[in-house]
Amino acid sequence: MRISVFGIGYVGVVSCGCLAELGHQVTGVDISPEKVALLAAGRSPIVEEAIDTLIAGAVRQGRLTATGDVAAAVMGTDVSFISVGTPSAADGSVALGAVDSVIAAIGSAIRAKPGPHAVVMRSTVPPGTAEDRIIPLLEQASGRRLGDGLAYYSNPEFLREGSSVRDFRAPPFTLIGAPAGDDAPLLREIYAAIDAPVHIAPIRVAESVKHISNVFHAVKLTFANEAGAILAAHGVDARDALRLLCEDRVLNISPAYLRPGFAFGGSCLPKDVRSFLALADEKGLAAPMLKNLLPANQAIIDRTFLAVAAHGRQPVALFGLAFKQGTDDLRESPFVLLAEKLLGRGYDLRIYDRFVQVATLMGSNRSYIDREIPHLERLMVDSPDAALSGTKIAIVGHVAPEDRPALFAALNGHAVIDLAGLAGLRDHPGIAYEGLCW
Ligand SMILES: NC(=O)c1ccc[n+]([C@@H]2O[C@H](COP(=O)([O-])OP(=O)(O)OC[C@H]3O[C@@H](n4cnc5c(N)ncnc54)[C@H](O)[C@@H]3O)[C@@H](O)[C@H]2O)c1
Repeated sequence: MRISVFGIGYVGVVSCGCLAELGHQVTGVDISPEKVALLAAGRSPIVEEAIDTLIAGAVRQGRLTATGDVAAAVMGTDVSFISVGTPSAADGSVALGAVDSVIAAIGSAIRAKPGPHAVVMRSTVPPGTAEDRIIPLLEQASGRRLGDGLAYYSNPEFLREGSSVRDFRAPPFTLIGAPAGDDAPLLREIYAAIDAPVHIAPIRVAESVKHISNVFHAVKLTFANEAGAILAAHGVDARDALRLLCEDRVLNISPAYLRPGFAFGGSCLPKDVRSFLALADEKGLAAPMLKNLLPANQAIIDRTFLAVAAHGRQPVALFGLAFKQGTDDLRESPFVLLAEKLLGRGYDLRIYDRFVQVATLMGSNRSYIDREIPHLERLMVDSPDAALSGTKIAIVGHVAPEDRPALFAALNGHAVIDLAGLAGLRDHPGIAYEGLCW
């Protein structure tokens, strides 16, 4: 494949060297004449492990050239990879000036090209950038419509400086954002020699995965640093503790808890977060991220309340009261907190949870709910049908599989606020569906 790589910085140079190594014919393009001259001479403009020999070898073997001439680069290649910078603007949003100008330049060059051309975005851009901004600009500049001699893919990259070449050769996966119905054969062919799974996703999703991956890494790092400082202040070898935490591949280092839904609660998480923060306070340690966990959790309950309130003060059916499905533990359940808030604001509320029998609640569970919702018994109903009849809004927190057919059958004209992501609910006929997280 003949590939032009626009932007020969940290990402672009690695792409140039590694794509050439895969056997492609690569042209590096940049607005910096110095970088172009260096690359053309077989020298890397960046410092990176293994890159010098890779670039020198590719240029020597005639598989890598460099130019500042956009039209020539587009004319002489089948596809353009874009890896220009997307730095922060003063307000924290991303500055897309370099992306705009490279897209406009490539688009104009495509206008003059007889054959088809594909554009692949490797720079990190926020979700929606392609559909709302880049594709319209590309179509306008090229005079072509997507699918008519013009293709666009998002192909974010997950390289880390310092090990970029290794990361390119052995990525965790290849992520391709493609228009609906396009299986991206061109990119599959380009990466055919890379032994990694290929995931095709809507362009918006692909853009967002790169974005949230970096945010997730920042969360992990800050968690380790804040938790580590608190532990160390209490005489714990924090590295040892964190190493062992990572040994749990079921709940800790795993997809567990990484599915958007409703707030957390129960008898352990809020209590243990509070007591861990007390350890920080005891030593006068700032832990801003951890200290915001409980307010962040409360914000999810508040957001759900606002979604209900947007419909006016209509009767509400709440499905799920225990902190999770399959238990009758109500202690610090976020559904109890939501119910409390609705009742406090005068909502007519019916609650269904097949695992909660108020009469049999005991001990701290009983005293918790007596304190929070003293007249709970009056609000509980014994079937989905009883919860839904006469109500206008259904909040679907959790519903046992055996109750789902009855829930679906009794939904009729309801506004449904789905906190569970129940299969089939979004497309259920005759409801106004609202998924707060999806
Ligand atoms: N650096 C990383 O490790 C890394 C990792 C993953 C993703 N990214 C993302 O990749 C993108 C590039 O990052 P980088 O660190 O390589 O940036 P960089 O600043 O090192 O390189 C960007 C290059 O683009 C060139 N450029 C700007 N406008 C141009 C134009 N119109 N035509 C051609 N070239 C142009 C610049 O001269 C520069 O050489 C960013 O979106 C970044 O967020 C970077």
